[in-house]
Amino acid sequence: MRDWFAKSMTKFFRFFADTFFAKRYGHRAVVLETIAGVPGMVAGMLIHLRSLRKMERGNGTMIHEMLAEAENERKHLMFFIEIAKPNWFERRLIMIAQFMFWHFYLILYLISPSTAHKMIAYFEEEAVRSYTEYLELIESGEIEDVPAPALAIEYYGLKTSATLSTMVRCVRSDEARHSEVNHRVAGF
Ligand SMILES: [Fe+2]
Ligand SMILES: [Fe+2]
Repeated sequence: MRDWFAKSMTKFFRFFADTFFAKRYGHRAVVLETIAGVPGMVAGMLIHLRSLRKMERGNGTMIHEMLAEAENERKHLMFFIEIAKPNWFERRLIMIAQFMFWHFYLILYLISPSTAHKMIAYFEEEAVRSYTEYLELIESGEIEDVPAPALAIEYYGLKTSATLSTMVRCVRSDEARHSEVNHRVAGF
């Protein structure tokens, strides 16, 4: 049941993303990374609050891991904002989506943390797929392999000559790690 819900939600969101963005991968990355930074922050906050409430050490390392995930997603956003600038409609969409997704995820996490983590694990698998498609278009020359933003070069310790394709590979491996972590935490 929990797995079914997590998978259905993933399909539902994927459908919207595919319909709305089609092959505009730069814009897709910007908008979706604004959402990707939410769950780690919610999870970190709730695990933190639980520890305070129960007056137990609980899972302290997990708090750090979740907050680090949120921070990592925010970094992704800072990289892609150098690649694609959202239009006014996307900016409005981001504001509404943040409001809705924050509340949705908070409630889901309060009801069932394991389902919430499982859903994110599947979201991250989709992110890996989308970045792979993005990478294919860059490598085939359909999307220009522009120089990587300085922020990404610094963050990943890349060569100064690094390009977008290298950055997308790095981001994709972050997403793969997020997926692993969330599958592990979901525990089913
Ligand atoms: Fe990301
Ligand atoms: Fe991610």
